[in-house]
Amino acid sequence: MSSRTPLIAGNWKMYKTVPEALETAEQLKEAVIDISGREIVISPPYVCLFPVAVALKGSNIVVAGQNVFWEDEGAYTGEVSPGMLKSAGCAYTIIGHSERRQYFGETNETVNKKIKMSIAAGLTCIVCIGELLEERETGRTFAVLETQLSEGLDGISAPQMAAVVIAYEPVWAIGTGKTATTAQAEEAHRFIRSRIEHAYGSEVSGTTRILYGGSVKPDNIDQLMAEEDVDGVLVGGASLKVESFSRIVHFVVLG
Ligand code: PGA
Repeated sequence: MSSRTPLIAGNWKMYKTVPEALETAEQLKEAVIDISGREIVISPPYVCLFPVAVALKGSNIVVAGQNVFWEDEGAYTGEVSPGMLKSAGCAYTIIGHSERRQYFGETNETVNKKIKMSIAAGLTCIVCIGELLEERETGRTFAVLETQLSEGLDGISAPQMAAVVIAYEPVWAIGTGKTATTAQAEEAHRFIRSRIEHAYGSEVSGTTRILYGGSVKPDNIDQLMAEEDVDGVLVGGASLKVESFSRIVHFVVLG
């Protein structure tokens, strides 16, 4: 195993009301009470962040925004700033999720602005990248990842990379039940690490965590985590239920 602390993150997307989120968080807290040496992050909808963060205070679970805006404050109806996430109890925010790219016009440029402002506010960013099925089928996976990385991380310094986690999420594997094979995941992760090394050197590339996301389930987590360059996972559907997410958090280290 690498020295990188495994990070297991649950993205609840647009699921759960405030009472439902609180109930799940309370149950999850008990279910993972035995875990140490692994970071656990959950990302409820905006309106649930503060009450969930309060409920999880002192536990081994931290909360993350699912998105963020790139200004501190202003007349931007409907948006939430990095400082506001921080004040609600967030330690992390997800940035550039493929659903944001697909439905809400997120681009590498907006991803870049969001990362910079979030780091300045003291948040750790889970930056999502990944290719579409058509891009994979036409042999463009690495080119797409390379562009998303170079544009998304443009101007981010080596010290700032300590506050960046990359999530490789092949878009064709999200919510489809179609997981990338462990070999496909490892190949992409290794490529991403090599690009980080190219840009920042081996110290940063050796410490940057790269998560896999896309139909992560209790029955594939152990194999995924056994890959050298898979440092954790970003889980959608299977993070909504305490039983399945707890099993994922309790992944078994295969010999
Ligand atoms: P999924 O979602 O686990 O439901 O495929 C992953 C994600 O969107 O982060």
